[in-house]
Amino acid sequence: MKLLKEVIVEKGKVRGEDVLKVDSFLNHQLDINLLNEMGKEFKNRFKDENITKILTIEASGIAIAAIAAQYFNVPVVFAKKVESKNVDNDNAYESKVYSFTKDKTYSIRVCKDYLNPTDNILVLDDFLANAQAALGLKDVVDQSGANLAGIGIVIEKGFQDGGKLLRESGIKVESLAIVKSMSTDGIKFA
Ligand code: G4P
Ligand code: NA
Ligand code: NA
Repeated sequence: MKLLKEVIVEKGKVRGEDVLKVDSFLNHQLDINLLNEMGKEFKNRFKDENITKILTIEASGIAIAAIAAQYFNVPVVFAKKVESKNVDNDNAYESKVYSFTKDKTYSIRVCKDYLNPTDNILVLDDFLANAQAALGLKDVVDQSGANLAGIGIVIEKGFQDGGKLLRESGIKVESLAIVKSMSTDGIKFA
């Protein structure tokens, strides 16, 4: 997506070898015009999938999903991140997610009331790195008996393994920008 790549080049900040800071338009301040254009683009890429619900994960996924949902006319469900290990879990699907960035495992949880076997789910998220969050969301969808129609990502870091892992397992993955490499000298897209 051309506009997104332009904004990444203009406003993204490369930190170290593999972290792209996008606080000024995606992870802290939100560029609503850009989010609207991303929502339209997700709709375009998944228009044939008969999506009934969008699933994302707090926090950064929520704004992306909420704006995209207006183009799909479907509800948004966001998985909650749970730090504690024994919170009551009677009516929820739960999955464990290991974050390489933070070297920490956390649980994600979605109330069973909000995912149904008849649902055709689009998962949306801001970043795809090692795909641990995406696989946790897939696990939750699988537990519910719903169908995972695809995964939409704003920024995929193509030099990490997540995209390959998901695509090789047969999932339709659409990333609006795929970063091939980055350094303080600049950002290259796939
Ligand atoms: P993974 O799910 O693909 O395995 O990624 P990982 O655990 O390594 O990522 C942990 C968090 O960092 C996630 O957000 C993810 O979206 C974000 N992230 C990964 N790589 C980058 C990057 O290069 N730049 C930025 N800005 N974020 C990145 P989170 O901790 O769940 O936080 P939230 O933003 O959703 O609240
Ligand atoms: Na994030
Ligand atoms: Na995220």
